[in-house]
Amino acid sequence: MNSKRSFVTIANLSREKIMHLIGMAQEFEKCPNRKILDNRVVATLFFEPSTRTRLSFETAANRLGARVIGFTDPKVTSSTKGETLKDTIMMVSNYADVIVMRHYLEGAARYASEVSPVPVVNAGDGANQHPSQTMLDLYSIYKTQGTLDDLDIFLVGDLKYGRTVHSLLMAMRHFNPTFHFIAPKELAMPEEYKAYCREQHIRYVEHEDFNADIIAGADILYMTRVQRERFTDLMEYERVKDVYILRASMLKQARPNMKILHPLPRVNEIAYDVDNDPHAYYFEQARNGLFARQAIICDVLGITPEDMALQQIC
Ligand code: CP
Repeated sequence: MNSKRSFVTIANLSREKIMHLIGMAQEFEKCPNRKILDNRVVATLFFEPSTRTRLSFETAANRLGARVIGFTDPKVTSSTKGETLKDTIMMVSNYADVIVMRHYLEGAARYASEVSPVPVVNAGDGANQHPSQTMLDLYSIYKTQGTLDDLDIFLVGDLKYGRTVHSLLMAMRHFNPTFHFIAPKELAMPEEYKAYCREQHIRYVEHEDFNADIIAGADILYMTRVQRERFTDLMEYERVKDVYILRASMLKQARPNMKILHPLPRVNEIAYDVDNDPHAYYFEQARNGLFARQAIICDVLGITPEDMALQQIC
């Protein structure tokens, strides 16, 4: 019933819908405290670890006046006794008006949205998608570039397992981007996403080198972590984990408008000397997650910008 209102994938969002959510995020950034969700309950079910996604969703709900229930460790739930995901979702939907879920299985959010009587928000499903991260990425790009159109976007690192880059690539299809994929062979962008680019007439160039000359053409330099938890062969992880490290000395030729994004957490891929460089934007990017997630929660609950305007306690 609610799969229409659920937020499971970025792939089916229109340009208009993306701009609508960005507009809502802008309003929430001006005034984050609005008691629009008094008497509502938001459940956060995290079957995988998280810092930013869970805390920003919970902050978003709290600043909207909702109450939050949930878990951060599935070992303390009845899933350890064999309860299925379907039954867990059916139970939680008895208690909450919206379910925010991170799960290690690709497709888990889609499945949950199909069985749930309340809207489900995908907070990351395996190596598949991370659409709320994409909304905050799009909001960050829009804020820093003044547009989403015609940008040169460089994706760096783990493009094989990185769900954030897969979701960003799909969302940008409306905005005529040129992508540069910078990855070692072992972590190259999967063929299915390159085929998607070709179908959608998205330009892309692939590189294995990562240096100042190559990144000089970027409007957005999107760094990613090599995700140890996705490797079945840890020797392979050891081979590729430190293959690209961004240092401040590599930014001398960067475009003035260029911003460095990273979904975080970082491990070694951005040296600490980059943090004070004016191109660094990853901590502000994470802050933007609060406003983007306020927009998403409200949207799945059918709350409009007009409803928002009635409830401002800045
Ligand atoms: N970007 C992101 O998903 O961070 P967390 O894993 O800390 O939620």
